[in-house]
This record gives sequence, structure tokens and C-alpha cells, in this order.
Amino acid sequence: MTHTPVDATSTAAWRELTEHHAALVPDLRSWFDTDPARAQRLSFSVGDLFVDLSKNLITDDTLALLQRLADEVGLPERIGAMFRGEHINTTEDRAVLHTALRRPRGMEPALVVDGQHIDDDVQEVLAKVYAFADRVRSGQWTGVTGQRVQTVVNIGIGGSDLGPAMAYGALQPYVADGLEVRFVSNIDPTDLSATLQGLDPATTLFIVASKTFGTLETLTNARLARAWLWEQLSTAGALSDDDAARADAVSKHFVAVSTALDKVAEFGIDPENAFGFWDWVGGRYSVDSAIGTSLAIAVGPQNFEAFLAGFHLVDEQLRTAPFAENVPVLMGLLNVWNVNFLGAHTHAVLPYSQLLNRFPAYLQQLTMESNGKSVRSDGSPVTTATGEVFWGEPGTNGQHAFYQLIHQGTQLIPADFIAVATPAHPLRDAAAGDVDVHELFLANFFAQSKALAFGKTADEVRAEGTAEELVSARVFAGNRPTTSIMAPALTPSVLGQLIALYEHITFVQGVVWGLDSFDQWGVELGKKLATEIAPAVSGDDDVLKHQDASTRGLIEFYRANRAH
Ligand code: F6P
Repeated sequence: MTHTPVDATSTAAWRELTEHHAALVPDLRSWFDTDPARAQRLSFSVGDLFVDLSKNLITDDTLALLQRLADEVGLPERIGAMFRGEHINTTEDRAVLHTALRRPRGMEPALVVDGQHIDDDVQEVLAKVYAFADRVRSGQWTGVTGQRVQTVVNIGIGGSDLGPAMAYGALQPYVADGLEVRFVSNIDPTDLSATLQGLDPATTLFIVASKTFGTLETLTNARLARAWLWEQLSTAGALSDDDAARADAVSKHFVAVSTALDKVAEFGIDPENAFGFWDWVGGRYSVDSAIGTSLAIAVGPQNFEAFLAGFHLVDEQLRTAPFAENVPVLMGLLNVWNVNFLGAHTHAVLPYSQLLNRFPAYLQQLTMESNGKSVRSDGSPVTTATGEVFWGEPGTNGQHAFYQLIHQGTQLIPADFIAVATPAHPLRDAAAGDVDVHELFLANFFAQSKALAFGKTADEVRAEGTAEELVSARVFAGNRPTTSIMAPALTPSVLGQLIALYEHITFVQGVVWGLDSFDQWGVELGKKLATEIAPAVSGDDDVLKHQDASTRGLIEFYRANRAH
């Protein structure tokens, strides 16, 4: 099913935004000085999140024009189409229904798409995941030696890794005592070796997470993990050397999550121990599906339920709120403003929470796999820049590394600052006068966006007694756009809210740009070439000689230098 997107650049709103931009002289200092209500007017809430957009290079007119743009490109209709389950993933002819994964039980009207009773299907799998999680957590689920599980190893890559790994890190304080989850994704053998280091096979459970169950990295790691399990158990005298015993070990130490349950069975995993999901859940949108099984085990069904409820709060705002107070819509439009009118190429995400360490990496897949496109959903070329490079690190670490460029570099880098009011691990520094360390941390959070917005003028630098020849190096131009997001605490619900917020920001940008944000054809060519090149790497000269000169040279270097 094709959909002809409206060309955003042909709309009246785009024309007016262009004129508005040409006339706009960003001046956050004077905007704040002359408009005491600016911060309040440009701050919004969604769920438990407080979102301050006031330090962006926008005026009320900018926001009004951006909302007109959203109307003119048909965003209201596209939002409806997504929630109704229309096939908005046009290149794969699929519905896009990650929002259905977090609909509360019994929500009316029931969602029926393509004849499928989505709510019933979702609840059935959730119940299965929860029952399994309870069995693992209670010790009812045991391995071949009758011991309970102590370590869960999630084997997956991309969306089958980044979401659960990020969320497991973020919700550490909610993880049950005596349970650890490790994640292995890379086909670099070092990853699996390091992940298995020190593990007792008798108390280890592997979850093979793969939407397609055809991903080279995941299947290779799964086979290696299975071989490791057999070898270790048999060395420990816990496994006899016959096929039935091996199959039994797999059934007790391997479960799978996939949309391809036939392939799961081929691998030797009992379909009873497989948790399904559907082609209408994109990999990068799947942490709230059975792909989150490792997380559900770690934090328990109740917390997982709260996690899903957090997503739903934001879904409901996207679906029902007027654009003027719809945070995902406003933030998506703001990104369009930053990219297409202010010329931003990248977007920094700076969580002031060590627990959100992996959030920027998670967002990289979500945003860049979704909107890194040069053609629109009908196959026509895009008419404007799309897709920023998302990147970031937790503060304050980033402050001592790359913030220099954000403060004084020549590029405009919009940045999202994220913080919570209540830390998971409060500490006081008695030796420094009983300082609350989290408050010190937050002072940095507040200070950075203030410095970026308001800068420091040459006169202010001079007033500090700086020698004239050093003044320019110490000037901060200011007017560097930032958004601040705060929540009371990093609860499962708040994490769900944050993820859903960025999912929908990404969607809104994709709609304005006319993209299919739910396919990822750009990852295919490299995968295919790797399979073709593999024989040359391991010695096939015939395949080698058909490579281009550069690739041939690189492979020859490898072959001349390998140690084995
Ligand atoms: O190659 C990219 C990709 O398809 C991602 O979109 C996906 O999250 C990842 O690979 C893993 O895919 P799968 O879950 O099917 O193993």
C-alpha cells in the first residue's frame, strides 16, 4: 500500500517558517529578560515528565507555525492511522502497532486489525512472559541439575539487545537480589567469551532474542552458547553424552523470543519455551514486547506492568492532546526546526543519571534507523535534510570530554538534558561539609543548560580582570538550544514514558519528512556483502580476486597478519 506524503517544503507553513527564520534573531538573554512568563509558557508535562522547551531558539510564532506545518502535512491523520493499525510501514506493507503492546487490559474499544484481535494476542503473550518470569524468579524453573537460575544471558542484537540492555541498566535498583542479566550482541568472539566468563552453566539461562531468528550474529552466538553449555555441563559431569540429554539441557537452559517460531523450533528450543510477537512490532520498538523478557525476569512482572503503563501515558497524549500541549509532537517539530531551519546535523542526549548510561545508544538505533532515509514513503527523493546523528554520554562525564564543542564550537548542537529529582543511591559527602552529592550533580545539570543558553559576553569576561588578548577565548556566545526533561525519579513508569516520548518524537519527524520510519533497508547491503566476502577472508582466492582493489588489499593484510 503506498501513501503519497505531502511535501512539507511545498506547504504554506514551510514558506512562512522560512520567512520567520530569516527575520529571527535568536537572543535568549533578551527573550528571558523581557518576557518573565517565557519559561512557564514553554514548559509542558507528559505523564511524570516536566519538559522545558524555553531554552530553544523559538518564539511563540515559531511554535505556532510548526503546529500549522504539522496540520498541513497531515500529522493528525497519520497519528490516527498508526493507532488504527493501518499499514503505515509502506515498504514492508505492515501495520505499526508498538502502541498496542502497552494498551491496558480491557481498554475499549478493542483493537482489531487485519482481522486479528490484537489486545487478546498481546495479553496472551504477556501472561506467558509473566508466568515464566515468576517461575524463574521463584526458583521453580530449574536447570538440568535442579538448581535455580542465577544468571540470564540475553543473546540478541540491535532492537533485540539495546532496549532490554538499556532498561536493565536503568532499572538496576528494581532488579531482584540473586539475579543478574548479561547481554551479548556482537559477533566479535570477545563479546561472548567475556559474557560467559565466570558463569556456572547449571544456573545460567539463555534467552535467544531475535525478531526474525535469522540474524547472523545472534544465531552464531546462540550456537556457540549452546556448545558452551553442553561442554561445560559435561565437563562437570552433569550431562551424559547422548542426544536426548543434550536436547533436555537445551530445553532447560534456552528459551527464545521471536516472530518466527518455526525457526525457533528448528534450533531445538521447545515452542513451549518461546515467546512470540508480531511483524507489526519493529525491532527498535520492541523492548515492551516479549523482547523485554529478560527485563521482566529481572524486575518482575509488576514493575514490567508499570513500565508498560508509562509508555501508555505518553501514547495517550500523542493520540488525544491538542498539538499546542502535545509534548511528543512539539519536540518532534522542534527537531524539524533545528535540522531544517537552524541547520543542526546532530542532536546530543545528555542524561544526568548514571543509570541511563545506555540511553543515548538506545536512541541511536531508534532515531537513526528510523529516520536515516533519503527517499520518502512513496519512493520519491526527500525534499529536505532528514535524520540527525544522535549521540551522547551521561553528565557530568560528558562535561569533561565533549561539551567544549557544544559550548564554543562552530556547529549548532541541540541537546536534551535529562535528570531526576530523587537519586537511586543518595550519598552525602561528610568531609566536604555534609554536601548532598546528588544536589551537586544536579547543580551541574542546571548550570550547563544555563551556560549554553545565556553564555558569557566579552564585557563579563573583562569584568573578571581577564587580559584583553585572552578575552575572545573565554567568551561564550550562548544561544545554544537545549531542552530540559525532569522526572521525580527513575521508576519503571518514568523509563517507559521516556522511551515512548522519543519513539513518538521520531515518528513526528518522519511524518513531516514524508518517510517510512519503520523500515530499515539501509542495513541490508552490508549484511549481504559480508556473507559473500566471508570465503575470501578464510582463504578463497577466487572470491578474493573479484573484490575491488581496496577491499582486496584489506583482506590480504588480514590474511598476512593473522596469528592462527
Ligand atoms: O539489521 C538491523 C536489524 O534488523 C534491526 O532492525 C533489528 O533490531 C536487528 O537487526 C536485530 O534483528 P532480529 O531481532 O531479527 O535479530
